[in-house]
Amino acid sequence: MTAMDVDLPSQTGKSHAMNVDTAAENGDHLPWVEKYRPLTLDDLVSQQEIISTPVQNFMNQGRLPHLLFYGPPGTGKTSTILACSRQLYGSEYSSMVLELNASDERGIDVIRNQIISFASTRRTSTIGFKLIVLDEADAMTQAAQSALRRVIEKYTTNVRFCIICNYVSKIIPALQSRCTRFRFAPLQTEQITSRLDMITHKEGIKLTDSGKQALLRVSHGDMRRVLNILQACYAAYDTIDDAAVYHSTGQPFPADIEYILHALLNDEFSTAYSKINHMRIDKGLALADIITEVHEHLGNTELPTETRIYLLDHLAEVEHRLSGGANESIQLSTMLGHFKIAMEIAASGVASKS
Ligand SMILES: Nc1ncnc2c1ncn2[C@@H]1O[C@H](COP(=O)(O)OP(=O)(O)OP(=O)(O)O)[C@@H](O)[C@H]1O
Ligand SMILES: [Mg+2]
Repeated sequence: MTAMDVDLPSQTGKSHAMNVDTAAENGDHLPWVEKYRPLTLDDLVSQQEIISTPVQNFMNQGRLPHLLFYGPPGTGKTSTILACSRQLYGSEYSSMVLELNASDERGIDVIRNQIISFASTRRTSTIGFKLIVLDEADAMTQAAQSALRRVIEKYTTNVRFCIICNYVSKIIPALQSRCTRFRFAPLQTEQITSRLDMITHKEGIKLTDSGKQALLRVSHGDMRRVLNILQACYAAYDTIDDAAVYHSTGQPFPADIEYILHALLNDEFSTAYSKINHMRIDKGLALADIITEVHEHLGNTELPTETRIYLLDHLAEVEHRLSGGANESIQLSTMLGHFKIAMEIAASGVASKS
């Protein structure tokens, strides 16, 4: 693949044939993450001050540096560079931007051939430089990244690079130092809410307050997740409330987690085990999700510092084992065992003080 295969409705407006049905014209056939992909930098909620404004200023001055965008999924990295490209190049977009993402071959040969040939051909725009976007660059090999160092320097007069990744530590330091870094933080509740309200209004979705809270809770600042869950719920329910959100994502209800935490902290080993195990099987909950939620609830539970540290450390261990495919029942009993030891630590702390 060479140039980016995206539609640019704001600029072209004629990307579809004239006789396509209205659904296609309205973008109704698209998943909402694409239908509501921000078209301009102003549409991007949250990253205004830290990203949009400096990037916008760079573009206004015609002095775009090489960029490095990093941060968790669904926070607007790809959308930001798409919006910039759209603003910079308009209809010349496809000849001026080369986008390579993880689905493309990006070994050293691609650097040598595709990137260099794109970078070295003469520019045709008034902007003065072309743009090469390396999305999901944490998947690039070390050798390919090393090869890029010289390419970036050599072709700076003609091209700007934008490197995008989730884990900045996977980008070699030499590349990092050639770019201006921008960290995309998970979106804040109010920021998600403002965009969500606009979308629910446009689509005519009945989203209750509890549904909205649940949506925010399970998405952890990832706007893509918000939209995907919303669309899945919309397909299945007339009114989207918290139950709809938890059911469609398979996440435990907060009440279930309170019940589980109560059993972990207060019940005797075998009672707690059978209660939690039953709930896990009946409701089809994943132990990893239970641990994530328990971890959050622990933050609001009063526990002596030593006990808390012990628990957090061991919960992390169990979670790590689960990610490697460990048996859930065995890990549940391990987790319970750790809670029992933690309670003993707490009790002995109280005893030694008195
Ligand atoms: N800051 C934001 N403002 C508005 N919508 C957003 C924002 N961030 C993400 N979105 C929504 O989420 C979708 C995915 O965003 P995007 O592709 O930019 O994420 P990303 O940061 O590149 O994620 P990944 O690291 O997984 O590639 C967009 O189409 C858009 O609908
Ligand atoms: Mg992306």
